Amino acid sequence: MSRLRAQGLTLAYEQRVVAERLGVEIPDGSFTVIVGPNACGKSTLLRALARLLRPREGTVYLDGGPITELPAKEVARRLGLLPQQPVTPDGITVADLVARGRYPYQGLLRQWSKEDERAVTAAMDAVGVGGLADRIVDELSGGQRQRVWLALVLAQQTPILLLDEPTTFLDIAHQIEVLDLCSRLHEEGRTLVAVLHDLNHACRYATHLVAMRGGEIVAQGRPSDIVTADLVERVFGLPCQIITCPEAGTPLVVPVDRRRALTVESL
Ligand SMILES: Nc1ncnc2c1ncn2[C@@H]1O[C@H](COP(=O)(O)OP(=O)(O)OP(=O)(O)O)[C@@H](O)[C@H]1O
Ligand SMILES: [Mg+2]
Repeated sequence: MSRLRAQGLTLAYEQRVVAERLGVEIPDGSFTVIVGPNACGKSTLLRALARLLRPREGTVYLDGGPITELPAKEVARRLGLLPQQPVTPDGITVADLVARGRYPYQGLLRQWSKEDERAVTAAMDAVGVGGLADRIVDELSGGQRQRVWLALVLAQQTPILLLDEPTTFLDIAHQIEVLDLCSRLHEEGRTLVAVLHDLNHACRYATHLVAMRGGEIVAQGRPSDIVTADLVERVFGLPCQIITCPEAGTPLVVPVDRRRALTVESL
């Protein structure tokens, strides 16, 4: 039985139901990647798994019991979430923001320690923002800010990491750097769940791929077992060819060039 799983989830915001009777199991030690079109419910599912969104029905289980029965700090020591659009507190510096990742380890009897300091420095270095420690987060570029937020989650040192689009604002070199870092964390034994829009990155890095559409899981498994032109068409409505990546041997999605089919009349 997986450490993190959910059963019978109905997820909704007021009147808008995003998913019904959704079940999901995150294989322990996997690098799970969730893909799917905009608004299909990926972030909503991640927020439910992190206990930030209370399901209307159903249960999220963490380590065998309902996640709602654990104290918030206990959940935060086991599971960290990088939200898609985190809100940066006004005027906060990089080092202070990343230090917030240590909150679950603080308490009345346990003040800021050398270990906390080490975790914060290591997290900033891992994503290459050590040199920005004294900068104001709001004054950074979008990509720098995204890496700072990732550092916060890393500083939390949780065995399970949920990352909602951790590479969206990054240039291609930094995307690969962050995904390689995720891959290393996975190899060290952590369980990762990331939402990615780049299907080719998803295919290269995921050990377990989950394809969602309209609040449902359409397919899941190893990328090379499930990614076909038919699946991409069903999930995204995009005709494509699947070839083998010459570098990684994983599926590579090449969209059909529809411009060739367009005539002046059809435009
Ligand atoms: N706070 C909210 N209040 C009301 N509706 C919301 C809220 N957040 C999301 N929704 C709606 O829930 C549905 C699923 O949104 P969600 O953010 O989970 O999509 P997503 O798959 O993460 O999309 P994207 O790829 O664009 O990030 C959408 O129809 C969206 O408009
Ligand atoms: Mg989202």
